[in-house]
Amino acid sequence: MKTMTCIEDLRQTARRKVPRAFFDYADGGAYAEATLCANCDELQRIKLRQRILVDVAARTTKTEILGEPAALPLMLAPIGLCGMQHGDGEILACRAAHEAGIPFTLSTMSICSIEDVAAAVKKPFWFQLYVMKDRGFIRSLVERAAAAKCSALVLTVDLQVLGQRHKDIKNGMTVPPELTRIGTLIDIATKPAWALSVLRGKRKTFGNIAGHLAGMENVNTLSTWIAGQFDPALNWKDVEWIAGLWGGRLILKGILDVEDARIAAKTGAAALIVSNHGGRQLDGAPSTISMLPKIADAVGSDIEVMFDGGIRSGQDVFRALALGARSCMSGRAYIYGLGAGGQAGVARAIEIIRNELDVTMALTGIKSIADIGRDSLVL
Ligand code: GLV
Repeated sequence: MKTMTCIEDLRQTARRKVPRAFFDYADGGAYAEATLCANCDELQRIKLRQRILVDVAARTTKTEILGEPAALPLMLAPIGLCGMQHGDGEILACRAAHEAGIPFTLSTMSICSIEDVAAAVKKPFWFQLYVMKDRGFIRSLVERAAAAKCSALVLTVDLQVLGQRHKDIKNGMTVPPELTRIGTLIDIATKPAWALSVLRGKRKTFGNIAGHLAGMENVNTLSTWIAGQFDPALNWKDVEWIAGLWGGRLILKGILDVEDARIAAKTGAAALIVSNHGGRQLDGAPSTISMLPKIADAVGSDIEVMFDGGIRSGQDVFRALALGARSCMSGRAYIYGLGAGGQAGVARAIEIIRNELDVTMALTGIKSIADIGRDSLVL
């Protein structure tokens, strides 16, 4: 792993090791991928202010996320089918996050279930919720997350209808994942290490919703399945219902508009995540970094502002913090690590970002995370 010096190295290795359908699922975005690209490109364009001859010997990347200590302002984002990048992927990623001292978020659409992960790790993790039409099932998912002692509920609010991902359709991504499709089989045959890890893994289908899949007659494409299950009627009243059911710390993921952010700040949620679902939903939406300062200014200290979309380096984390985020989520950065090298690969992804953030702080003359601000940039 030491020869992997940046997230792009992990990405190239994952591309070789993981069957194409699963690599593309994580790597790709919606439609023309304009928003996916804008997230990364617009972050890259933000210039950092180089400062010299400041004593930065005693600097630290340590911070607090939702009032709890964290080694750096980073969380692992919820990723569907994480366990298809590497067998037991959710467990391995959660362990790597905990060892590195940062939070891990388990997706509703994970392969390992809430209970599988809870039994395999020592500390609480966050659970991400998608709201489906069957509210009894949603209630049971929330109760399962509470029983597993999840320490925050991340409610995704930007995927009631799926943005089309051309590659998923062309690759035949299905629910449940169909490993026996002929194209996939040939691909799998050339990726023996992946096949072994997934074969040995606890599960080969969606762990949390397995009971919900049982009644389904056929395998569906991802988009038909989501269209059948997810509730397009979801609205702010449902947020109140979920907040009441859960009772713990609620995070609203998928806020990209100032007006929505103002409403979110009044719900009593602990945090909002400025997000366009990693460019996987509304193609043509602005980059998350372009909306972050406006949202941060609008909500002030009424709600903790988190950020995702395009984070591929410690410099990117620094940029988002400078523009008003308290912490950042990254999904693809660690998913590439997982595909490239399992738990060690996720650990490496976190280490790369932490080291980059540390050096960036040193070269901008900053000793603590709280001191990163707009005056740390050349605007
Ligand atoms: C679901 O979370 C997806 O973006 O595919």
